[in-house]
Amino acid sequence: MTVLAVDAGTTGVTCLLVAEDGRVLARGQREFPQHFPAPGLVEHDPDEIWAAVLAAASDALAAAAADLGEPVAISSVGLTNQRETVVLWERDTLRPATRAIVWQDRRSAGECDRLREHEPRVRELTGLPLDPYFSATKLAWLSANLPDVWAGVRAGRVAVGTVDSYLLARLTGGRLHATDPSNASRTLLLDLASARWSPELADLFGVPLAALPEIVPSSGSIGRTDPEHFLGLDVPVSGVAGDQQAALFGQAGFTPGAMKCTYGTGSFLLVNTGDRIVPAGAGLLSTVAWQLEGRPVQYALEGSVFVTGAAVQWLRDGLKLIERSADSERLAASVPGSEGVVFVPALTGIGTPHWDPHARGAILGITRGTTDAHVARAVLDGIAYQIRDVVEAVTGAAGIPVDRLAVDGGAAANDLLCQIQADLLGRPVVRPRTTETTAMGAAFLAGLGAGVWRDLAEVAEAGAGRQVFTPRPLPGDGYRRWLDAVDAVRRFGS
Ligand code: G3P
Repeated sequence: MTVLAVDAGTTGVTCLLVAEDGRVLARGQREFPQHFPAPGLVEHDPDEIWAAVLAAASDALAAAAADLGEPVAISSVGLTNQRETVVLWERDTLRPATRAIVWQDRRSAGECDRLREHEPRVRELTGLPLDPYFSATKLAWLSANLPDVWAGVRAGRVAVGTVDSYLLARLTGGRLHATDPSNASRTLLLDLASARWSPELADLFGVPLAALPEIVPSSGSIGRTDPEHFLGLDVPVSGVAGDQQAALFGQAGFTPGAMKCTYGTGSFLLVNTGDRIVPAGAGLLSTVAWQLEGRPVQYALEGSVFVTGAAVQWLRDGLKLIERSADSERLAASVPGSEGVVFVPALTGIGTPHWDPHARGAILGITRGTTDAHVARAVLDGIAYQIRDVVEAVTGAAGIPVDRLAVDGGAAANDLLCQIQADLLGRPVVRPRTTETTAMGAAFLAGLGAGVWRDLAEVAEAGAGRQVFTPRPLPGDGYRRWLDAVDAVRRFGS
């Protein structure tokens, strides 16, 4: 039995065909255009996202067929996606009513300011701060600025959703207008405790409840693909979750205290808190992890690091110290340490636990003997220290013990970074066989929902085969120096 996993991320779509034993049989990958109509604005064309899904899925199916000598039979489809981005589409034609407003887009800062007095209540109900990052602020902007489109929403002609809802509508030929609790928990419209839409919040942001998708489980009977719309396939859609939550599931992070870090341009860390909502202090967010059909909602705490892979890109494109990102490992490994050089990668502000948009990056502690290799080493250290800050916030402020960190995403392929991460955390770092863990999570949710795997133990078995980086004792008090350096850049930025 083979599961087709669709990971519709921010810059592209990855599709994996995953076998019962957890092997990736084939993959397809397509990027789609990013639209930046003005500074601070980021948009996607939903048709372009859908075209990328169709192309990436066909590529994966064609690659598997070429390998096996016959078309591969798909037993179910799982979906995971960039979160918070809002999509509006015509219910009849499934055509976009306007461009999608992406999670990175800051245009709704004014709406947030206007509603600021309600922030304590919003936080109490949703576990989230009032920030342009989240969907409902973008919907409030749309209602104020695109009255024609919003009239369609009010009249019931136009559906409102996140990327998962839009793709579920597309996959099922318009039969489904749905989302799962993990995606819904990023909208600012979900009552976190009941995992239902909150009429109070819908009212506050001016979003008609009837325009919102139905909330379905993250794994179970969700819908069925429509062969006329989706590559001739008539199979169950049995898994859906936001990408960071899917990555935690893909890491088999099923029990409280399980923590994962996905290294991308920035990094998202999630720790499982089981059926307990842990109040989000210290720059953390409370969120839904997933809900398996017929089972209680599971929750997580999330921390954000804005710049990780982007710091390595800056070494490559800004400083031109390396030709390819992967070269950072060789350069940094050519010295035993950074010789006291500290790099604070606050290139676009700093995230958890500070959430300080004004902080600026810095390289501190250079001497006449400092070389490009020391700087490269300090960049990897800086990435790892930021992750440690989030782990400290989770274990300290939230009081959740974390005994290891599971890593995935592009930079998890860097062995030196994984070792530095383990050393700086003083905890083992664990890397799965497939670092495309987000898509694996979608495959696992779907396979569990469709009976490919009977229970979580079988899912964990399919994901088995991990490499462990054991922490080595560190000389000196590097973490203290790091914290001092962060203080310095925050003072400098303010
Ligand atoms: O919250 C935004 C997150 O879901 C985006 O993830 O991997 O598509 O950048 P990614």
